[in-house]
Amino acid sequence: MKTALEIENLVKRFGGLVATDNLSFHIEQGQSVGLIGPNGAGKTTVFAQIMGEHLQTSGTIRLYGKDIGSDSTPERIRKGVSRTYQVPRPFTDMTVLENIRVGQMPNSIWQMIKSKPQYEKEVELALSVGFSKTDLHKPPGELSMGDLRKLEMARTIATGSSVMLLDEVFAGLTVAEIAQIGALIQQMHKDGMTFLIVSHDLKALEPLVDSVIAINYGAKIAEGNFNDVMDNDNVRSSYLGAA
Ligand SMILES: Nc1ncnc2c1ncn2[C@@H]1O[C@H](COP(=O)(O)OP(=O)(O)O)[C@@H](O)[C@H]1O
Ligand SMILES: [Mg+2]
Repeated sequence: MKTALEIENLVKRFGGLVATDNLSFHIEQGQSVGLIGPNGAGKTTVFAQIMGEHLQTSGTIRLYGKDIGSDSTPERIRKGVSRTYQVPRPFTDMTVLENIRVGQMPNSIWQMIKSKPQYEKEVELALSVGFSKTDLHKPPGELSMGDLRKLEMARTIATGSSVMLLDEVFAGLTVAEIAQIGALIQQMHKDGMTFLIVSHDLKALEPLVDSVIAINYGAKIAEGNFNDVMDNDNVRSSYLGAA
C-alpha cells in the first residue's frame, strides 16, 4: 500500500501556545482515518497546515511521498489534497451550482461523474450530496446549515483531489442529513478516496473510519481502531477535561 499523506514531527506555535506538538502520523492510500480530540485540541490547525493556510513552525508534510510543506494552497489542491471548513465558506453571490463549478478541476478522479459534460456533472454532484433540484440555483444565503455543509462537501469533491480532509462534517446536520452525508463518504471510501475526518459526533464517525488518531494539546495521545482508542484512559480523561 502507498502512503498518501504523511505528517512528521509537525509543530505549530501561536506565540507561546503550542497548537501542534511534535505530531506524526501517516495515512495509506484509500484509508479513512478519524482525527478526534476535545475542543481546542488542535484538529483544525492540523488541517490548516496540511493545506498551507498556516505555515508549520517545523516538521514535514508529504503527499504521495513528496514534501508539500512549502507549496501554496492552490498547488497542494492541484497535487491532490483538499479540505472542508468547520464554518462553511461558500461564495455568497453565487448559486449552489456556480459554487460547485468554481471548485472544479479537469482531472477529477470522481469516477461516477468523470465522463459526463460539465453541467450534468455539477448537477449530479449536487444531487449526490443530497441537494434537491429546487436548491440548485439558490444562493447560499437561502440555504440551511445542513445544505451549506453539503455544499462544502460538493465543492471539495469538485476539486478532484484524492485526499479529503473533512472538518466537523456533521455539525449542524439533522439525523437524516448525517445519514445521507455518511453514506456518501462510505461510497467514496469504497471507490478509493483517502479521508481524514474530524467529527465530534463519534457515533456518526465510527462507521466511516478504518482507524482513529486522538490528539490533545496538539499531541497524539492514542491511535488505532475506533474501540481501542475510545477505551484509552488518556482519551477518556481528555474528553472529561480531567487529564
Ligand atoms: N490563528 C490562531 N492564532 C492563535 N491561536 C490559534 C489560532 N488558531 C487556533 N489557535 C489556538 O490553537 C489551539 C487549537 O485550535 P484548533 O486547531 O482550532 O482546535 P480544534 O479544531 O481541535 O478545536 C486552540 O488553543 C486555539 O485557540
Ligand atoms: Mg476545529
